[in-house]
Amino acid sequence: MDTNLARPQAIAVPQQDSFAGSLLNGLRKTSKEIACKYFYDDTGSRLFDAICELPEYYQTRTEMALLKRHAGEIAALMGENAEIVEFGAGSLRKVRILLDAAHNPRAYTPLDISGDYLRNVVRSLAADYPALTLRPLVGDFTLPLEIPALPGPARRAGFFPGSTIGNFKPDAAMAQLRRMRATLHGGGLLVGVDLVKDPVRLHAAYNDAAGVTALFNKNLLARANRELDADFDLDGFAHYAPYNAGAHRIEMYLVSLKRQSVGLCGQRFEFAQGEPVHTEDSHKYTIESFREMAARAGFNPRAVWTDQDRLFSVHWLESL
Ligand code: AVJ
Repeated sequence: MDTNLARPQAIAVPQQDSFAGSLLNGLRKTSKEIACKYFYDDTGSRLFDAICELPEYYQTRTEMALLKRHAGEIAALMGENAEIVEFGAGSLRKVRILLDAAHNPRAYTPLDISGDYLRNVVRSLAADYPALTLRPLVGDFTLPLEIPALPGPARRAGFFPGSTIGNFKPDAAMAQLRRMRATLHGGGLLVGVDLVKDPVRLHAAYNDAAGVTALFNKNLLARANRELDADFDLDGFAHYAPYNAGAHRIEMYLVSLKRQSVGLCGQRFEFAQGEPVHTEDSHKYTIESFREMAARAGFNPRAVWTDQDRLFSVHWLESL
């Protein structure tokens, strides 16, 4: 083991909201649901990385190309001595593009819900950027977050790529933008947003031929079996991800293939044959509809970049 590497400790930010509590609550509802943030344990984060490599999942490679093409402009907008704060940092692949272009970055502060996964990826980033101040935080960005100020000159720049904003219903997305604006103390926010497009293409991106998205979805049940001693039968549920064109969103469900009863935390939950459990929404925006929402959340939408096929967009929002 490379024990002499400078290894910043990932600090857990004090917050609460447990998988067990949330799952019990969600399965008691008339329309059963599981919150999508629980996809991301170590296994789920790895499965998500595999999704990003899929031929059908155009989002990641399109956004990376946009970041590369416009890195110079983005770095200028972020300015000197930026502290880049990433919400839901994941593999840390995208931020490398920003770090390589940034003018004297003051620090990089990745926040992620999966501590095990974050510790690993931060270790390799630290090895590649030995001079960079790293402040990894383990936590949930949907809860209020106050990050202590660094000594010396620094201006925060938020980074929220991957169209994670799409996982919130429109009202919650506004609230999330407002929360990030508060955390950024006047700094701007770079946000990636997937665009409304041909439903067939959208459908394929969430129903890949290799079945990785299905595994990712079912990881919620596998995780409950691992962590909470539940007895979900993974073959008793099907991955179902239709595009709801009226609501401009992919909806993801686990559908019970039979009438069954599942034990969880000493309680039993009944599933009817064909009963859906909602696990995720992935909203798609137009460039205009996203800019309008950002403005209502108190941002000044400035630059926006998109690819030739208008698959994906990256927005620079300034705090008003
Ligand atoms: C976390 C927003 C990038 O909504 O596309 C991928 C998660 N779910 N495939 C998305 C996801 C199914 C994803 N993001």
